[in-house]
Amino acid sequence: MVYSELHGIISIMASKVILTTGANRGIGFSIVQALAQRSSDLTLLVASRSKDNASEAVSQLQGLGLKADFQPIELDVTSDDSIKSAIKEVKAKYGKLDVLINNAGIAGKIAEDNSDFRDTYQKIMNTNVTSVALVSTLFLPLLREAKDPRVVNVSSARGSLTLVTTGKNPPTAFTAYSVSKAALNLLTVEMSHANTDVEFQAVNPGWCKTGFNGFRGPRDPLEGAQSAAELALAPKGQYKAGFWAWENETMEEVPW
Ligand SMILES: NC(=O)c1ccc[n+]([C@@H]2O[C@H](COP(=O)([O-])OP(=O)(O)OC[C@H]3O[C@@H](n4cnc5c(N)ncnc54)[C@H](OP(=O)(O)O)[C@@H]3O)[C@@H](O)[C@H]2O)c1
Repeated sequence: MVYSELHGIISIMASKVILTTGANRGIGFSIVQALAQRSSDLTLLVASRSKDNASEAVSQLQGLGLKADFQPIELDVTSDDSIKSAIKEVKAKYGKLDVLINNAGIAGKIAEDNSDFRDTYQKIMNTNVTSVALVSTLFLPLLREAKDPRVVNVSSARGSLTLVTTGKNPPTAFTAYSVSKAALNLLTVEMSHANTDVEFQAVNPGWCKTGFNGFRGPRDPLEGAQSAAELALAPKGQYKAGFWAWENETMEEVPW
């Protein structure tokens, strides 16, 4: 092995490798942007179910003048084959994963006549819960190759039983979505208890202006992205495993 190859491998081993799902647009894109703004010494895997969209997002991030090492990667979180090939690619190129950010998510409203009830519930639960559980579980061996492995799940205030039961969350027409985020919160806690060598966190990005809500959210997605970026890069032990949001330039706990 020549010196330059060895040096390349050593520098990859030193810099953190962080994969964000659904990073081609919306909050996922902003999470990658926020990470790169905090440090240029990162390998940021921009995952999308479309490799073209991932590559396009990488070009946009580079166009912002950000200097991190952005790499496009194809990952449809609902496809077992896609998950396995993404893992194979990360293993071959980096041999580890420092942080997995499970951001990809969907919502959906059930038709008035309930004709799509089961289908809509299943799609939302499959993407927002089952796929996060499977992606996280299958990436665990690569996460364990990192010094300080972390998983950050992008949840929602809609998943907080406390905020719902105290009336702080107004009623919603998107019940399946809220149920999925409450389940994602419990998944975060259960996986944390079952895998004490990996840090599991949930974040609430707040109501952000993305395609998800027809760009009606008041919050800049880059602001919404800060909680995930902070938890990905904070010194070990700075934040206990929990449910977090970025408010007024600082991290605040969200009640479960
Ligand atoms: N926006 C808000 O106000 C808000 C508030 C609280 C929580 N959140 C959460 O934040 C996360 C991101 O939401 P967003 O507002 O950025 O939504 P968005 O603009 O609709 O983006 C969703 C992202 O998820 C990806 N995705 C969907 N299904 C996927 C799959 N099967 N495999 C891989 N990627 C998939 C989409 O990819 P394509 O481009 O291929 O469709 C897209 O990149 C979600 O988990 C959402 O629940 C959002």
